[in-house]
Amino acid sequence: MQPTDTAAWKALTTLAAERQLTLRDLFADDPERGQKYAAEGAGWYLDYSKQRLDRAILNALLDLARECGVEERRDAMLRGEKINVTEGRAVLHTALRAPRDADIRADGQNVVPQVHAVLDRMADFARQVRSGEWRGFTGEPIHAVVNIGIGGSDLGPVMAYEALEHYSDRNLTVRFVSNVDGSDFAEKVRDLDPASTLFIVSSKTFTTLETMTNAHTARRWLLDALGDEAAVARHFVAVSTNADEVRQFGIDTANMFEFWDWVGGRYSLDSAIGLSLTIAIGPEHFREFLDGMHDMDRHFASAPLEQNLPVLMALTGIWNQNFLGACSLAVLPYSQYLRSFPAYLQQLDMESNGKHVTLSGAEVGYDTGPIVWGQAGTNGQHAFYQLIHQGTRLIPCDFIGFARSLTPLPAGEGQTHQDLLMANVFAQSEALAFGKTPQQVRGDGVPETLVPHKTFAGNRPSSTLLARDLTPRSLGALIALYEHKVFVQGAVWDINSFDQWGVELGKVLAQRIAPELSGEQDLHHDSSTNALIRWYRRER
Ligand code: F6P
Repeated sequence: MQPTDTAAWKALTTLAAERQLTLRDLFADDPERGQKYAAEGAGWYLDYSKQRLDRAILNALLDLARECGVEERRDAMLRGEKINVTEGRAVLHTALRAPRDADIRADGQNVVPQVHAVLDRMADFARQVRSGEWRGFTGEPIHAVVNIGIGGSDLGPVMAYEALEHYSDRNLTVRFVSNVDGSDFAEKVRDLDPASTLFIVSSKTFTTLETMTNAHTARRWLLDALGDEAAVARHFVAVSTNADEVRQFGIDTANMFEFWDWVGGRYSLDSAIGLSLTIAIGPEHFREFLDGMHDMDRHFASAPLEQNLPVLMALTGIWNQNFLGACSLAVLPYSQYLRSFPAYLQQLDMESNGKHVTLSGAEVGYDTGPIVWGQAGTNGQHAFYQLIHQGTRLIPCDFIGFARSLTPLPAGEGQTHQDLLMANVFAQSEALAFGKTPQQVRGDGVPETLVPHKTFAGNRPSSTLLARDLTPRSLGALIALYEHKVFVQGAVWDINSFDQWGVELGKVLAQRIAPELSGEQDLHHDSSTNALIRWYRRER
C-alpha cells in the first residue's frame, strides 16, 4: 500500500486544502503553543511550534506514521531484519553504538562482540598513535593523520572532526583527502613530512575510483621519500569490509579495521570509518560520541510517537514537502564547529531518500526526499536568507544551536559571542514565522513606495533544536536524530532508504570514458559527449 492510499494521507490532503493556517493566528489563538509543540530527548530540545500545523494536522500525521507501519519497520530494523531488500542486507548501524552487553543479531549471530572487538583495536591503535608509541618507518612518531575516502567514508569523519575539534589533540594534524582532483591530495600533503604521516585508507568496498586513485598516489608519495616498500606497513592502515582488496593494495590485513555489509556507507561514521576521529579526539571521547548516538537510538525505540524527536521531525518534514509544496530543507547550525553538518546531511538524506520507486518497484505518486542544503549561521544570513525571507519559494528551516560556548576567548568574551549568535537564531525563526505587516512597516514611517519592499509575509516554517553544549555526546545524539528522521520518512514514503543505485550509472560511464580521454579511438557517445571529449583531447 502506498502512503497516498491511507486514510491519514487523505485526511491530510483535505486538511491542507481546508486550512490556510498562519503562524500569527496559531500563536495568537494559543498562548502556550511554544511549550505545547516541543519535545525533549537524548539531551536535545525540539521546538516545532513554528511549523504550520495544528492539533488535527499533527494527529493525522501521527496516524499516517502508524498506518504506514513506521513502528513495525523501526523494530524490524533494530532486530536486524533484512530491510534493505534490494541488496538483501540488514541495516544495523545502531549495533555499532550498542553497549558491550547488548545482543543484536544479524543472520542469527550476535554482532555486538565483533563490533566491540574492532572498537577495542581502534582504541588501542589510537592510543599508540597519540602517545607516540606507534612509529613511522624511520622511527619518527606520527604528527599527521590523513584520511583518504569519499562519500560516507569522508563526509562523516570530516564533519565530526571539525565539530569536535575543541576536544582534539592539537599536536596532531588531521586532514581529509576525498576528491580525485589531484589538487586535493597535493594541497593536503604539501607541508607534511612523509616520515611522520599516517594514511588511513577508508573505503567500504575498497574499489572506489577516487579513493583508490588517491591511495595509490599517497603510496607513491611516501615511497618516493622513504624508498622502501616496507615503509607501507608503518604508514598505511585500511578501514574496509573487503579484506581481499586491502591485501591486493599491499596493506597488511593486520593493519585493517573491519566493518560489515550491514553498515551503509552514509551510516558508517560510528564504525571503524571513525578511526581518524578516534585518533583526533581520543578513544574515551569517541565512546562518549557513540553513547550519545545510543541515547538517541533508545529514545527513538521507546518514546511515544507524539514525543519522539525523529518522528516529529520526519512528520513535519512530510507535511511541508507533501502537503505545503516545499521541496527543500535548509539546515542552519549556529555553530562554526558544525559548518560541514549540512554537507554531511546532504548525503545522509539525499542518498537515502532520493528514490522514485517504492519497495516493490512501483513508481511513487508523491514527492520523496527533499533537497537538503544550508550553511553555518550567522554567515548564511548574509548570503541566502534574503530568499528564505522574501523569495517566492517556501523553504522550511532547521535551526540548531547551543546554550554554551566552548570558545576560549579573553575573559567573558566567549559567552558574549554566544549570546549574539543565539540572539540571531531566535530572531531569524521569529522573523520567518511572523514577518512584518504593511501596517507595521508604515508605522515605522516608511514611505509608501517602499512598503511592499519592506514587508515580510512571514508564515515560513522552521524547527529549532537546542542542546546545552557541543560535546561528543550531544553531537552523537544529533547525528542519530537525523539518521532516524531519514528512516521514518523513508518508511512513510515506502522507499528503500538504504541503497544508492542512482550513483552507479555515472561511476560506470566514467570508467568507460577515462581511457578514451588519452586515446585516439573512435567515439560512440551522443554528439554532445563526443564533442566534449574531442575538445578535451585537443586541450589537455
Ligand atoms: O556515493 C556512492 C557511494 O557508494 C556511497 O554510498 C559511499 O559512501 C561512497 O560511495 C564511498 O564508498 P566506499 O566507502 O566503498 O569507498
